[in-house]
Amino acid sequence: MRLFVNKYPDYNIVNLDKLTYAGNLSNIADIADAPNYTFVKGDITDIPFIEGLFAKYGFDSVIHLAAESHVDRSITHPLEFVLTNVVGTVNLLNASKNLWKGNMEGKLFYHVSTDEVYGSLHNPEDFFLETTPYDPQSPYSASKASSDHFVRAYHNTYKLPIVLSNCSNNYGPNQFPEKLLPLMINNILNEKPLPVYGKGENVRDWLYVVDHARAIDDVYHKGKLGETYNIGGFNEWKNIDIVHLLCDTMDTKLGRPAGTNRGLIKFVEDRAGHDLRYAIDATKIMNDLGWKPSLQFEEGMGKTIDWYLDNKAWIEQITSGEYQKYYDDLYANKLA
Ligand code: TYD
Repeated sequence: MRLFVNKYPDYNIVNLDKLTYAGNLSNIADIADAPNYTFVKGDITDIPFIEGLFAKYGFDSVIHLAAESHVDRSITHPLEFVLTNVVGTVNLLNASKNLWKGNMEGKLFYHVSTDEVYGSLHNPEDFFLETTPYDPQSPYSASKASSDHFVRAYHNTYKLPIVLSNCSNNYGPNQFPEKLLPLMINNILNEKPLPVYGKGENVRDWLYVVDHARAIDDVYHKGKLGETYNIGGFNEWKNIDIVHLLCDTMDTKLGRPAGTNRGLIKFVEDRAGHDLRYAIDATKIMNDLGWKPSLQFEEGMGKTIDWYLDNKAWIEQITSGEYQKYYDDLYANKLA
């Protein structure tokens, strides 16, 4: 959002967000008063509200990033993922189709999705390509796979102009501390146990959030209609290795003796159906759209840790109340 608002002063950008537990307007307070920006609070599953919004603003494009995104929550509350991710997406597709009926020229519906739709890799030489068959394994990835299918179905059936991208794990400032890296950073700061699922052997590809935003900019402006672009950092890490890196970097930054933070690691019961490895081949977006990641991982990680160290009040506000209950419920048995 910040990238688009700052880079495109001539656009009229409407930011629709339900502001659930993970949403926080203070994350983008710096653009709140920009003349090209309007914030609207609302729910993508609310049909009359969405119809009214589309009628009011007459959008000529939609970039759809609204989703429930946390795998652990999808295991405990799968229906919420179906409602927001599947029903919400179809609702936005319908609103776009109805608004653009008879004149699809210059219009675009862009669905931002995840590499998790491809399932889990077991052979170290394999990567997810845009042509890899979908094989979602968690309720979260099943809901995103379904929404991707609906987007393509609207292209095929109604000629809706669409484009999709599927990205690997993001990290960076302002990330809600249920995700691996901010959860570990927060727990290290507070000298709390670091819950590593299983043996920590699972592999994820990590991309700095601003590089994902730059890729979305490229796909939105240069992507070919009907196409899918995989976005990733060519930056695979085993969970335990990335947690070790965090521990060691934060020992130095916090002035703790070497090895202190590693002592907080606790191997806990594995996530149900835990996907072993995700790895993206991002060659297509690099070759066709000229995108590439701008930050080396160590630099991005350093910036991220510094951001959390400089914004302790933000984390305290976010982790009090509802999050604390979520954390206690999810980790109570695991950490017992
Ligand atoms: P996560 O940040 O939840 O992203 P995703 O499940 O979408 O990849 O988790 C990243 C990896 O870290 C995943 O393999 C699960 C693991 N993990 C832990 O080991 N401990 C934790 O407390 C969390 C949240 C995740």
